[in-house]
Amino acid sequence: MNKKNIAIITGAGGGLGKEFVKLLFNNSELDEIYALGRNEEKLNSLAVDFGNKIKPYAINLSNRESIKEFGDYLKNQNANIKILINNAGYAKFCSYDEIDLDESLDMTDVNVNAVVAIGLICIPLMSKGSHIINIASQAGFQPVPYMNIYAATKAFVKNYSQALNIELKEKGITVTAVCPGWIQTPFFDRAQINSKKSLRHFWFTTAPDVIAKKALHDAYKGKDISIFGLYVNICHILSKILPEKIIMKLWLWQQRI
Ligand SMILES: NC(=O)c1ccc[n+]([C@@H]2O[C@H](COP(=O)([O-])OP(=O)(O)OC[C@H]3O[C@@H](n4cnc5c(N)ncnc54)[C@H](OP(=O)(O)O)[C@@H]3O)[C@@H](O)[C@H]2O)c1
Repeated sequence: MNKKNIAIITGAGGGLGKEFVKLLFNNSELDEIYALGRNEEKLNSLAVDFGNKIKPYAINLSNRESIKEFGDYLKNQNANIKILINNAGYAKFCSYDEIDLDESLDMTDVNVNAVVAIGLICIPLMSKGSHIINIASQAGFQPVPYMNIYAATKAFVKNYSQALNIELKEKGITVTAVCPGWIQTPFFDRAQINSKKSLRHFWFTTAPDVIAKKALHDAYKGKDISIFGLYVNICHILSKILPEKIIMKLWLWQQRI
């Protein structure tokens, strides 16, 4: 029996993830799109809106056992994974002591451990021409005070993805780290917690469909990094040439902190 071609998108229920669902829905090469997230209602409504090409799968990605169960489930799907998009992730805009230990570690679980775990589960089910897209962030270019864990997790995702891209070349699988600036999504609802030193100035915000289109375009071209817009490109270059202390000072000035 021929294997079915599938895509897997984490955090598919809204924001950037939903834009990937919309774009991949029109990809006739794909038989099914697995939409992962915690909010079952949002995932089910995707299936209602787009039809049974969408396979909702409710999962809390901070739970390692649930990820392993998803891996077992995938093995029984007779699937060739054409595209994996590790999109789920979140931030908290605050100082280090305004979120507790569990929340701090949950952020690293979702933003880092789940990206590694889902990737390791999916790679054996991929083939030549498959793509992994990992959503990092402009925040991953340098250390970012008052978003310190988030920025560090995204630096991990960026570096990990670029290195993995080299390792997977012999299998013909590409890995792309997507590093967007601010995007208009519900991301901010979860990030803003009325902290005294919260971030309040968001320059050059972009619509999520633009970022998703550019990410897919770059992944299909085999790029190891996807950066949209002049401002983020300039920040990327500056992060390579300026000392980190200066970049952090500029950041605090921009945020009036
Ligand atoms: N918005 C920005 O300014 C911005 C900038 C740069 C990078 N990014 C990155 O872009 C990605 C998408 O974020 P977004 O902007 O689209 O924000 P969003 O609308 O808040 O989407 C985040 C997604 O992550 C999922 N998620 C969070 N925790 C999860 C968990 N424990 N288990 C399973 N799923 C979980 C959420 O699903 P549920 O609702 O089902 O929990 C949600 O669909 C993230 O990795 C984010 O870090 C965002």
